[in-house]
Amino acid sequence: MEVLRSVVVLLHIVGFAVMFGAWVAEAAAGRFRTTRVMDYGLLVSLVTGLALAAPWPAGIELNYPKIGIKLVILVVIGALLGMGSARQKRTGEAVPRPMFAAVGVLAFTAAALAVIW
Ligand code: HEM
Repeated sequence: MEVLRSVVVLLHIVGFAVMFGAWVAEAAAGRFRTTRVMDYGLLVSLVTGLALAAPWPAGIELNYPKIGIKLVILVVIGALLGMGSARQKRTGEAVPRPMFAAVGVLAFTAAALAVIW
């Protein structure tokens, strides 16, 4: 059970890496667009995060305020990505720069919270 939990944590971190990595790649290429890869990374983080939010194996203690804040951050990122891709489809232009920046800053903040708190 402990090994399984570690595997799910690993996938949870991979989900973050995919989302944040896709964001960094867009920024580095100067495109500043939200992408499907970001959506997929976010989805992996969400599904694995929810699985980890259940207290298993028995006896494990979880920091629910931290988990709750990460969930709120993740929902906000999801809303930004959803609005971003709709807007990109409509206008053909990259999302407004502050919106693009917010995705990366929020993802980084969630990771910092997870590791530092
Ligand atoms: C972008 C969003 C997120 C990022 C970057 C992130 C990052 C991380 C990282 C790096 C860890 C491993 C370090 C640790 O154990 O604390 C972790 C663990 C965990 N995350 Fe997340 N997370 C995110 C969203 C979520 C969400 C939405 C949930 C649940 C609804 C969640 C629930 C958990 C749980 C339960 C653990 C394991 C804690 C433990 O076993 O002690 N995470 N997360």
